Amino acid sequence: MAQSPSKTKKNTAGKVNKIEKSAFGTLPNGSKVDLYTLRNSNGMEVQITNFGGIITNLTAPDKKGKYANVTLACDSLKGYLKGVPYFGALIGRFGNRIAKGKFTLEGKEYTLATNNRPNALHGGRKGFDKVLWTATPIDAAEPQLKLNYTAADGEEGYPGKLDVEVIYTLQKDNSLKIDYKATTDKTTVVNLTNHTYFNLSGDASNDILNHELSLAADKLVPVDATLIPTGELTAVAGTPFDFTKPHKIGERINEANDAQIKYGKGYDHCWVFTDASNKLKNVASVYEATTGRVMEVFTTEPAIQFYSGNFLDGSAIVKGGVPAKFRSGFCLETQHYPDSPNQPNFPTTVLKPNETYRTTTVYKFSVK
Ligand code: BGC
Repeated sequence: MAQSPSKTKKNTAGKVNKIEKSAFGTLPNGSKVDLYTLRNSNGMEVQITNFGGIITNLTAPDKKGKYANVTLACDSLKGYLKGVPYFGALIGRFGNRIAKGKFTLEGKEYTLATNNRPNALHGGRKGFDKVLWTATPIDAAEPQLKLNYTAADGEEGYPGKLDVEVIYTLQKDNSLKIDYKATTDKTTVVNLTNHTYFNLSGDASNDILNHELSLAADKLVPVDATLIPTGELTAVAGTPFDFTKPHKIGERINEANDAQIKYGKGYDHCWVFTDASNKLKNVASVYEATTGRVMEVFTTEPAIQFYSGNFLDGSAIVKGGVPAKFRSGFCLETQHYPDSPNQPNFPTTVLKPNETYRTTTVYKFSVK
């Protein structure tokens, strides 16, 4: 049942609501921004704002049962408005890079802002991470936040009015499920994801180099110096990109004679899953030994951008006034391959008016 529990923290049965709404601030244009707090019965908490659909807090237990925020996130709306590199945000209409901000669809060329010169990145100057979504809290046993946004035909240069719906569900098993859905009135391209930076130590002043990562991916999408795919897929075996068995993120990240590592200044690449099906499958697992925290990623998508925070430089400030320094967070952005609109051999990202785009990703937290 949809309700706005802002007025009271208790529902009619006297139980604490599993979802609560509070004020998060005001945008420069006067729009009010809200914050929703979702809780499950174990004590896990996820906070999401309708500005950019940003996850501003996500707690997970350590091996002593202590819950702590495991994401890079700001204390206030102001922090996000100062400009942070997509902390916690929903990304669209097209996640990742499009070469030189141009693509052709049904014979017509489209031009996007080259906001990551010389390329387009993450939906443009004002992508889905910077818009106000319409939020509907759903106070169920597994609380949900439904977010809706309609991108206009031509918005950020993309064709077609796109109706987008994202549902965050905090599940009983300490997982956060994200269901994405979109429909269009003209042929367009879509690649939605979430850009949360994780630091499973629960302390953003640590780097993430000792986290152990495994990826169920035997191929990489190699890129050029501007991080645009060359068009081929290469085997990860025998390279610093082989995470088919767990490796510490820091183990091979500075292998300067690997051209791909050099281009990404570390890891900033798209891996292609060995299982190419669109079933919900376990594609990644991360372990942080000092806290025992484990995060597993499940998705219906064919690929994942693993970004090791190489462009973090301490200028963005996270909770408690902590500078988000070099490699203090990593992203696992489930998605289609970068630059797909210009790559005829990649799985298509085209969405037609009679079709519905649907993907699901789950981030599940446990300890070992
Ligand atoms: C990209 C990085 C970029 C970051 C945003 C990631 O998804 O792959 O290259 O720097 O987003 O800051």
